[in-house]
Amino acid sequence: MELRAAVVLAAGKGTRMKSGVIKVLHSVAGMPMISWPVAAAKGAGADPIVLVIGHQANAVQGVFRGDNSILCAMQEEQLGTGHAVACALDALSGFRGTILILCGDTPLLRPETLADLLKFHDEHAAVVTVLTAVMDDPYGYGRVVRDEDGRVIRIVEQKDADPQEQNIREINSGIYCMRSDFLFENIRAIGNSNAQQEYYLTDLVSIAVQKGLACLAMPTADADEIMGINDRAQLADAARILRRRINREHMLSGVTMIDPEQTYIDFGVNIGADTVVHPNCQIGSGSVIGAGCEIEQGVSISACRIGDSCHIKAGSVLENSELHENVAVGPMAHLRPGTVLQSHVKIGNFVETKKVLMGEGSKASHLTYLGDAEIGRDVNIGCGTITCNYDGVNKHRTVIEDGVFIGSDVQLVAPVTVGRNSLVAAGTTVTVDVEPDSLAIARVPQVNKVGWRLKKK
Ligand code: UD1
Ligand code: CA
Repeated sequence: MELRAAVVLAAGKGTRMKSGVIKVLHSVAGMPMISWPVAAAKGAGADPIVLVIGHQANAVQGVFRGDNSILCAMQEEQLGTGHAVACALDALSGFRGTILILCGDTPLLRPETLADLLKFHDEHAAVVTVLTAVMDDPYGYGRVVRDEDGRVIRIVEQKDADPQEQNIREINSGIYCMRSDFLFENIRAIGNSNAQQEYYLTDLVSIAVQKGLACLAMPTADADEIMGINDRAQLADAARILRRRINREHMLSGVTMIDPEQTYIDFGVNIGADTVVHPNCQIGSGSVIGAGCEIEQGVSISACRIGDSCHIKAGSVLENSELHENVAVGPMAHLRPGTVLQSHVKIGNFVETKKVLMGEGSKASHLTYLGDAEIGRDVNIGCGTITCNYDGVNKHRTVIEDGVFIGSDVQLVAPVTVGRNSLVAAGTTVTVDVEPDSLAIARVPQVNKVGWRLKKK
């Protein structure tokens, strides 16, 4: 197979985003924008991939740290897309084959479309192939100018187009396939005498045509795919389209969504069949959810592993936690990082957990804080129980062994251990370890002063 490399342009600031963060680092469906076209190029078999970086270069580079197929080329000053590609070519010196050129601001581009473009380019033995689209509203894009016979002759930018050219609806996607020898020989021939005084990469089209080389355009069927994000309204549009794609894949693999338009699942989430996801859920990248689960409305899940047949009730927030099978959580529960709930655990409303291991069948049904605790099997944690884990300086552990019953409104002042099968009476503040099979009770004896209210009157 012919060798393929890719150049992805990402040096620009993205002024129209009105942001302190450069455009290509804005997140779309859980990944920085730049990661999407890079993934598409990889998916189409491009190696290496040269990223042209400039603004916030370190941050862009950081996204791909450890990935050896990504090379970075610096463009100190953003003098235009042609200049940006020229900056990338040093990193590709010695490369012979086909070079894909993409923009970092096209998150909707799919690898399949790049594969089609490469195939078209090869089959037609083209020197330059431009991916184009026909748009109802082509405003802002470069237009593809063709002669009477339909042959591509040049690309004209919005700002340089005359009124007749502005009526052309076929636009340049900014995605190209070029033969490396052509690119190396002609990249320096691009000038900057245009409305923006920039070096336009698009000038390579007229250069190829003037030399009588095969320069073709391949229109894409789906104009959405090549949408370039320039502002936050387009960012939201792109995110919506990506979400639809992601949700559709989950639905086709057996997940029920009550309203997929109101379901926010990031890239890279795994969900088992027969799981039902209700509206307004947010599920972050890297989460794994088992089969037959129910995720009620307004649940937020990030970086969690959830087993089969779990029920996550409305309004719960789950972060970096692990749930085995048949676990019930919420409504309105907060599982903070380091929570591990074994099978048949029940966490009820207004319960907060952090760095907690709860054994099989244990329950904390209402209004409780459990932090830095190891809880055995079949433990009942009463309403209002608090592990007092923090003394202002250090965090301490609470251990509650198998079969313990903790009554309501108990404080466990850590470090402390409650031995197996013990009972802690309601209202107790536990400050010393409790031996197994015992009753712990610490209450001020109650005094009833009969008639006291009457005397006050
Ligand atoms: C470009 C094309 C236009 C096409 C459109 C598709 C040119 C001259 N115009 O216009 O025909 O319809 O894309 O979306 O190529 N960049 C750099 N360095 C630079 C300039 C740009 O790295 O010096 C990067 C930007 O970060 C961005 C990409 O190149 O990722 C495209 O630049 P942008 O300014 O958005 O180009 P458009 O004006 O949209
Ligand atoms: Ca653009």
